[in-house]
Amino acid sequence: MGKNLDALLKEERIFKPDEELVSNSNIKQWMDMHGIKNYDELLEKSAANPEWFWDEMARDLVWFEDYNEVLEWKAPHASWFLDGKFNIAYNALDRHIKSGRKNKLAYIWESEKGEVRKFTYFELYREVNRLANALKKMGIKKGDRVSIYLPMIPELPIAMLACARIGAVHSVVFSGFWAKAFQERAKDAQSKVAITADGFYRRGKLLKLKDTLDEVMEHIPSLEKVVVVKNTHCDLDMKKGRDVYWEEVIQNESMECSCEEMDSEDPLFILYTSGTTGKPKGVLHTHGGYAVGASTTLKFVFDIKDQDIWWCAADIGWITGHSYIVYAPLILGATSVMFEGTPDYPDPGRFWEIIEKYGVSIFYTAPTTIRLFMKYGEKWPQKYNMNTLRILGSVGEPINPEAWMWYHQHIGNRKCPIMDTWWQTETGMHLITPLPITPLKPGSAVKPFPTIKAEIKDDEGNTLTKGGGHLVIKNPWPAMFRTLFGEPERYVESYWSKFPDTYLSGDVARLDQDGYYWIQGREDDVLNVAGHRISTAEVESALVSHPSVVESAVVGKPDLLKGEEISAFVVLGEEYQADPQLKNELRDHVRKEIGPIASPSYIGFVDDLPKTRSGKIMRRVIKAKVKSEDVGDTSTLANPESVDALDRAI
Ligand code: PRX
Repeated sequence: MGKNLDALLKEERIFKPDEELVSNSNIKQWMDMHGIKNYDELLEKSAANPEWFWDEMARDLVWFEDYNEVLEWKAPHASWFLDGKFNIAYNALDRHIKSGRKNKLAYIWESEKGEVRKFTYFELYREVNRLANALKKMGIKKGDRVSIYLPMIPELPIAMLACARIGAVHSVVFSGFWAKAFQERAKDAQSKVAITADGFYRRGKLLKLKDTLDEVMEHIPSLEKVVVVKNTHCDLDMKKGRDVYWEEVIQNESMECSCEEMDSEDPLFILYTSGTTGKPKGVLHTHGGYAVGASTTLKFVFDIKDQDIWWCAADIGWITGHSYIVYAPLILGATSVMFEGTPDYPDPGRFWEIIEKYGVSIFYTAPTTIRLFMKYGEKWPQKYNMNTLRILGSVGEPINPEAWMWYHQHIGNRKCPIMDTWWQTETGMHLITPLPITPLKPGSAVKPFPTIKAEIKDDEGNTLTKGGGHLVIKNPWPAMFRTLFGEPERYVESYWSKFPDTYLSGDVARLDQDGYYWIQGREDDVLNVAGHRISTAEVESALVSHPSVVESAVVGKPDLLKGEEISAFVVLGEEYQADPQLKNELRDHVRKEIGPIASPSYIGFVDDLPKTRSGKIMRRVIKAKVKSEDVGDTSTLANPESVDALDRAI
């Protein structure tokens, strides 16, 4: 990251958008309709009257009953489209069934092995209805929680939409998380039903998902039923009375299921994300505002048109997939590619082959993936015809200018603009992002989306116009999370208490002389490993749950490919030997407790961790050491000798 940051600070190149792309873009057409002449005027006009802007956007969706008010803002609590009756699933499916899009493809799905399944809007609608009826029969009612633990197979969006349709709240748990992580999330959500699969293949290796879930079932007392998709047809134990096959429960269900009329503010889903403590945060999103925010940003940022083939190469287990694989593209009636596999399996041409095969026109991925492909070299994309591409996107972490340039040249054939979209699980939609009409600077997320008032603040709350500081948002937006599930005080304390009535993003950013934003990364103890948010506290508590570990400190170590790597320092109990075997055991242990993404790349054994006299671990010192930076003032350390011990461990 250090090197990337230096490059970011020096970047001065500007890429002007293509004239034709600009004049045909959704945003330009909308501006023309409203007599808005340019980008500056768009930002000014929308910032002056956000409610006017969002009212316009909400009018594109179907409301069972119209809303009376666009926004009620009692900081830090927002309600959008008050008293409106709405259902996001109706907007994602039913209205297309009643229109010319009925037989249009909603998803083209490809498995890791290359198997293809295609769903028209009508087919998807029917599958959703059948599962929705089955869930109802299991006793699932409006407001009940359903945990979904599925790999990237079509049943995943189907399950989400089925929940939304009947007013149940889904909580998707990323299939790369393992037993304990699932347990913690499903228990917190008090889910009644879990939907999972027998297993799935990752790089050719079978991972048995249902077995993982079985390990922790007894610790989730609220769970009554487990619905299992036969995905790999591997062996598994089905517990009588509790476990049922998806195929069997939907078999005799009707293909029609009435859509629950929800209040605009009713909850749609909980998605757990990492915070600064070990306990994941249950970020809660609602039907109305989320639908409007997610679909508007997709329409204007990625310029989705009816003829486009959209591919967001994320996992639905994360917010990017929720917003931009499931809800927004379906609301817009788009055709999406959905891919189960990994970018470089069986070879580094896999992504480019998919782009060629389906004629993908808009492609959205993460900088870590781009850097992986840079490593393999341009000979891989050069083998494929990717002329259909017209817009590219980036999300999840700062994109360093070298990666931006490589993406632009070798994937975008020097003609596709790159939408570097900054946002978060909490924001639900892009907040700082280019539009197809804006000049781009490699590594900058450009400016706030229309209506969004972003600022950079110093510790005292002064607004900065240059230099780095806390990235904050000053006003509400429709797809903002409404609370943290079961922790309303944490919602206020974590996000809204540092500066009055202001959303604290947890990121550091800098503004340049043109008002462009340069996001520099997290400022808290949250790591960003290959675009995945991981809390240091969560990894630490997984480590100390191993019998050999007395204490641990986890920090991020800069890595050119993944952005950050997990570095752990552990103090062992007296009876344990510091040997390589134990390191492997600890890595395995974290893998089992959280998932492979949280397994430390580096583990160092130390006798003691640097601490203040009050016993607080001084992470700042550890961080400086792993980055080979100066440790600064250590006069408050109770045990200065621990710093030398860190050196030896590194
Ligand atoms: O640090 C920022 C980084 O990802 C964090 C949010 O992670 P998560 O909630 O998992 O959502 C990821 C996908 C939206 C942010 O706090 N981040 C996300 N997008 C960018 C980014 N950092 C820099 N540039 C981005 N475009």
